[in-house]
Order: sequence, then C-alpha cells, then structure tokens
Amino acid sequence: MPVTRCVCHDVTFAELKDLAQQLGPDLDSLSKRTGCGTGCGTCVPYIQLMLKTGRTEFPVLTGAQFASLLHAQPAPRAQAARLT
Ligand code: FES
Repeated sequence: MPVTRCVCHDVTFAELKDLAQQLGPDLDSLSKRTGCGTGCGTCVPYIQLMLKTGRTEFPVLTGAQFASLLHAQPAPRAQAARLT
C-alpha cells in the first residue's frame, strides 16, 4: 500500500503539494496550516520528499533510503537525457 498522506491529520500529499504552491515549499508553513507532521512525525520525511520531487505517492522507505533520496543531487541535463 503506497504512502500518500499524513495519517494523523488526514491530509494527503497531493493536498499538501497544492498548498505548497500557495505557501511555498516549506514544511513549517504546511504544518502550521494543516498540522501535518505534528503528530507521530512519520510523514515528515515523505513530505520533505514530496517538496523535493513533486511525487505524492511513495513506497514505504527506510531511513537510509530517505537519506539517499533527500540528499541526491538532480542529474545534469545531459545525464538525465541519457538515462531516459
Ligand atoms: S502521519 Fe503525519 S504526523 Fe503522524
């Protein structure tokens, strides 16, 4: 089952993505508006990934996977073109 929301505050990553277009890509602003991330905190790294990648659905990820994805540099355009 994909991870798609902050369960504690029943707000989807898609809703947060839309809200981020109004408020800016800032977790604190999203949290103040919706409460996301202020319960158990499990959704916080997923929201950070959503803000970085634009994705709104994720597999369950480990801490190492979050670290790798959150700190990965975007591929240069030439490399990205070769990868597609
Ligand atoms: S799932 Fe978002 S704070 Fe618990």
